[in-house]
Amino acid sequence: LNAFRNCLYKRLKEQDVQSGNKVSIVGAGAVGTGCAMALLCKGVTNNIAIYDLRKEFCSAERQDLLQGSLFLNNCKIDNRTTIECTKNSRVVVVTAGVRSKANESRQNLVHRSAEIIKQIAPELVKQSPKAVFIIVTNPVDVMTWVTRKITNLPFERCLSTGCHLDTARFRMFIAKILRVSTSSVHGMVLGEHGDTSVPIWSSVSVGGTLLKDLLPNIGTDQDSNGWSNVHKDVVNAAYKVIAGKGYTNWAVGLTICDVVSAIFENSNRILTLSTSAKGMCGVKDDVFLSLPCIVNQGGIYGIIRPHLSDWEKEKFKKSAEVVLNIQNTVKI
Ligand code: LAC
Repeated sequence: LNAFRNCLYKRLKEQDVQSGNKVSIVGAGAVGTGCAMALLCKGVTNNIAIYDLRKEFCSAERQDLLQGSLFLNNCKIDNRTTIECTKNSRVVVVTAGVRSKANESRQNLVHRSAEIIKQIAPELVKQSPKAVFIIVTNPVDVMTWVTRKITNLPFERCLSTGCHLDTARFRMFIAKILRVSTSSVHGMVLGEHGDTSVPIWSSVSVGGTLLKDLLPNIGTDQDSNGWSNVHKDVVNAAYKVIAGKGYTNWAVGLTICDVVSAIFENSNRILTLSTSAKGMCGVKDDVFLSLPCIVNQGGIYGIIRPHLSDWEKEKFKKSAEVVLNIQNTVKI
């Protein structure tokens, strides 16, 4: 059985986790508060801290949430305004960063976001040395690499939501076309969270039927049935929302909440999260990309070795190159 498991996934080290259920959210912007609302409303935790350099603004967000505590299982929100409010967190969610403007690629934010991460990550780890860190600051793949580079956190506990949101969008768009529930469409998006993400059409299944059995080239450049538009919609989804309201926050807040619940439930659920892809799918460099990850109380417990079609392997390799090129412009 061990030999079989080793074929299926690369196992990482079990982590000594922080006790309790405290989740600290760094950045009280739309994504941070969207995450807070999702965590509290879905009952994943009732013990949070929200930290932001804008003390007044952050206190107002805290007060606004606390005034709803009757409906939120009497939530506890740490009221300190300094970074110490994040002390002894079980999970730290980093959303602090700059917003993409309309039609602006996430990649364009890399240098401004890297400066923010370099400024706050060491102190956050000092406050919660055993926490699992979920990096949501865009471009998430490079920002997770920066975080690990400067804090030396173990891979298991330094991850990003990555393409978990792209996977959710992918499954939703397919479900809409087939008129089935999103939860009944199984499939994933891997690689960069964003423009070069890779739709893994070869393993998309609905009700136990592999779609590629019905349409062998589904979603690829050779598919004349237009399924490739589904992935175009995934890539454009955030751009469309940002064009309309200036930012995205609800879907990504729910995405973060799902990752935290997989950790708190010690679930061993498999989520497409951004982790070190070195040694996987032909990647030779230390670059963070989304892969199917087994998630438990210690963060990432294992990384599935995905079986990709030639078309998917090519796309994944391209995605890795694009992310590495951006990563190489960052000064640590
Ligand atoms: C999005 C942002 C979170 O895809 O990158 O909505």
